[in-house]
Parts: sequence; structure tokens; C-alpha cells
Amino acid sequence: MALDLAVRSADLSTVKAPLLALLLPAGNSMPAGLKQLDAALNGALATALKRGDFRGGRDETLHLQGSAGGVERVLLVGMGKPSSVPLALRRAGALASRQGHKLGVGQMSVWTPRADKAGIEALGIGLNLGSWEFVEMRIPPPPEERRPPLTAATIIAPNASGLRAAVAAASAIGAGYDITRRLAMMPGNVCTPDYLADTARDIGKRHRMSVTVLGRKEMEKEGMGSFLSVAQGTPQEPRLVAMEYRRGRKGGAPIVLVGKGLCFDTGGISIKPAERMEFMKFDMCGAAAVLGAMEAIARLKLRANVVGVFGATTNMPSGTAVKPGDVVKASNGKSIEIINTDAEGRLVLADVLAWVKRYDPAAVIDAATLTGACVVALGNNAVGALGNDDRMIGEVLGVAATAGEPAWQLPLWDEYKELIKSDVADLKNTGGRAAGTITAALFLKEFADYPWVHLDIAGTAYSETDLVMIPRGPTGVPMGTFVQFVRGRTR
Ligand code: BES
Ligand code: MN
Ligand code: ZN
Repeated sequence: MALDLAVRSADLSTVKAPLLALLLPAGNSMPAGLKQLDAALNGALATALKRGDFRGGRDETLHLQGSAGGVERVLLVGMGKPSSVPLALRRAGALASRQGHKLGVGQMSVWTPRADKAGIEALGIGLNLGSWEFVEMRIPPPPEERRPPLTAATIIAPNASGLRAAVAAASAIGAGYDITRRLAMMPGNVCTPDYLADTARDIGKRHRMSVTVLGRKEMEKEGMGSFLSVAQGTPQEPRLVAMEYRRGRKGGAPIVLVGKGLCFDTGGISIKPAERMEFMKFDMCGAAAVLGAMEAIARLKLRANVVGVFGATTNMPSGTAVKPGDVVKASNGKSIEIINTDAEGRLVLADVLAWVKRYDPAAVIDAATLTGACVVALGNNAVGALGNDDRMIGEVLGVAATAGEPAWQLPLWDEYKELIKSDVADLKNTGGRAAGTITAALFLKEFADYPWVHLDIAGTAYSETDLVMIPRGPTGVPMGTFVQFVRGRTR
């Protein structure tokens, strides 16, 4: 359920709430705004600080009992000595709402000593991220065991009226994350290419976007032999989906967001090992981020022209599946020798990237769970960024950092192109083990004829282990980067 966010001004000692989270920087001094609350709590805050039970270190938490008739519980959350206050608030907010969600308090209030608009927005996004849970496919626990989900959070701050827009923005971005993470979590038998297309239609209808959906026949007409070679192994209808949001300058060149939407990736004839193959339901996280971003951009009412596009199918082994050695032709005329059918994402994206040229885009960002090599290179903490325009890469790295989805550039030098030269075709679809993220991006570059940045999210779109801010599962990355990029170009 989406978290209902609000901001209001109040004297903390008069606030009534089942839970009040205080997000505090490192140190043992009590912020001035807490004196009266401390008195209402019989000095519990001052004591905890004086004893050093709570020191405000990053991710440090301390739970205190509240007082009857006021705040029933108090949760102290440390922010450490942050280099970025908004990002620290985002993290602490997520930790606080995760705790509020686990406790089953239903709603909570949150306070922090000083935060500007950017800080409040980030805090709101964090609160949303931390309270998210995927429960819709399970029988709910019996009433006596059920803990109410966290459904509302109120930020207490001076000058609330000046912060309403920041909270509204956090809600919009939170709604985007909710969509991205939900789709990512849904299994391949439910979240099919048609399901993704229907989700696009739904978002489009609610926000007056025009939505175009291509199927196998239409793609054949476009000569998309590369995309279709992946789809030929599955009876499911492949879908190329475009959502057009036009609230910018009339006729202005749009920003195009592109996503890889593999609803399941078995590897095809080059089949993956059984162990942990179930994680390949997440191979549509790029598409899910595009869908979430379109929702958020519309809710933010950004004055921009944005087209969200994704290619959706399923990579299956079958009697009709594409084989290693087969040569296929993409819509831009380039022939591709398929060495490994598990390098399917680039085959889908090749035709999608060539197709979006029709929009005459100002900039294109694609997101894809593209290579295991990216996980090896950057682990789970940085998105891999590569592109054909240094200024745009810098811009994307900047907005990714503010979105709390840090990205790191890898080189896209022509020297690596040797690795994807084929003996029979213009390109081959894999370049061997070395520089796997780079060769995948170099392959895509052959189809991206405009300023373009590729985000490899194989290591960051979902987490196999619990993280501080979010439980294991989808992170929503790079939904926030998409939104911040469009915002950055709008201001
Ligand atoms: N979807 C995978 C990439 C992936 C692997 C994402 C692990 C997340 C975790 C992609 O389609 C793939 O299979 N890539 C191959 C490419 C190789 C055959 C060149 C890979 O990385 O092993
Ligand atoms: Mn694959
Ligand atoms: Zn894949």
C-alpha cells in the first residue's frame, strides 16, 4: 500500500502519535527543539544522550518508551556525519519507517533538527522506501497475529506550508518506486509482456499519455530480426511499448527512457544453471523503472516531453528458439551472429534503440539488467554507466548521485570493439569473458544514433540479501535517476 505522506508544524511535546522517530546527527548534545519533549519524557532523551546509549552514528537506533497521552514510543535514528544531508535523511527515514512498519503502529510522526526542501523530499522518499512490502500473493496472517502495515507518516517541521511541495514530490516519486518494485517482484507467470503492456496502458490512461503497443506482426514489419530472434522461442506475444508524455515545449525533442523487459531469462538454448535461476524474473527491472518513472513524472507534472519505451519478452529454450551460430538482422540493417543466446538483452535493446530514433530524441537513457560482468565489476553498490556523449554521462552520474542511486562510469573505447567482431556478420552478440559490461554497451552503441547513456543495473536493481534501507528484493533502481534526469532538464 502506498504510504500517505504529510508535513505539519507542531510543538513536539503536544504531538500525539503511536510512534515518533527523531532523526539525529552524530553527537551527544540535545537539539534545542527537543527540550520540551524531553521534559514530557521525564528526561529520557537527555539521559540516553548523556550515557552514550545513543550517539547518532549512521544506522544507529534506540527505542524508548513514550508517555501516556503524547507520543507512545520514540525511536532515535542516527545519521552519522553525513556528506549529504538529504541522502542521510533518506536513509534514516527508510530505517525509521521500516521499524514503524515492523512494529505495526499503522502511522508515525518524524522529526529532524534541520532540513530544507531537498532534505524533506529525500526524507519522504526514504519513508516510502522503508515501509514497502510485497504481500499481495500471500494469505494474510490471522487477525490476532496481524500487525497493521504502516500507511501514513507525518513529518513535523517548522514552516510546514513551505514544505508541502517537497512532500508532494516525495509522494510522486514514492508512487514511482512502488510501481517499479512491485512489477519487479512479480513472478514471470504473472508479470508477462502483456501484463507490462497493460500496466503502461493503465498509467497512460490515468495521466493522458498516448501508449503504443507493437506485437510480433508489427515488429516483423519493422524488420526487427534481432528482438524477434529472442521472442521466437516463446509462445507469449512479445511487446514493444511506447508511452508518450508531452507537457513540454510543443514539438520539443523528447527525452526517451528505454528499459529491458525480459519477463524471464532462462538463457535460452545457452541455458543458465538451475541454481538461482529464479532471480531471472527480475530481468525486466529496466522496463519496470521506465514504468515507475513515467508515473512519477506525470504526478510531478513536469513540463517536459518524455517517451518511456521498453521491449518485453521471455528468453526460453524451445524447438523454435534461436541457436548459437544463427545470424539475424536488426531493423537498422546490421547483421548479428548469435554466439550465446543468453546475451539476449542486447538483442532486444538493439531494435528498441534503433526504433526510438523516430522521436528525434534530445537524449536517451536505457536501463538494463544486462551483464553478470557488471555485478563482478561494481558489486551491488554502483550502477554501471556508459555512453557516447561525455557531457550527458556527467549529467547522468550527477543526477544518479542525488537520487541515491550512485553510478560509476566504465570506458566505452573503440579498442574493445575487436571483441565483438564476427567472422560472418557485422557484429556478434558476445565478446567473451573479458570486459563483459563494456562489450555489451559497445554492442548497444551500434544502434544508438543520438546522445545516449546506458545504465547496467544487473547488480543494483535488486538485492539478494537484506540491506539497511530495504529488505531483500527489488530496490527500484534506477527509477529515481530517470526522474531526476528529466527534472534536471526541466528546471
Ligand atoms: N540478465 C542477464 C544478466 C544478469 C546476470 C543479471 C546475473 C543479473 C545477474 C543477461 O541476460 C545475461 O545472461 N548476460 C550474460 C551475458 C553473457 C552470455 C555474455 C551474462 O552476464 O552472463
Ligand atoms: Mn541472459
Ligand atoms: Zn537477461
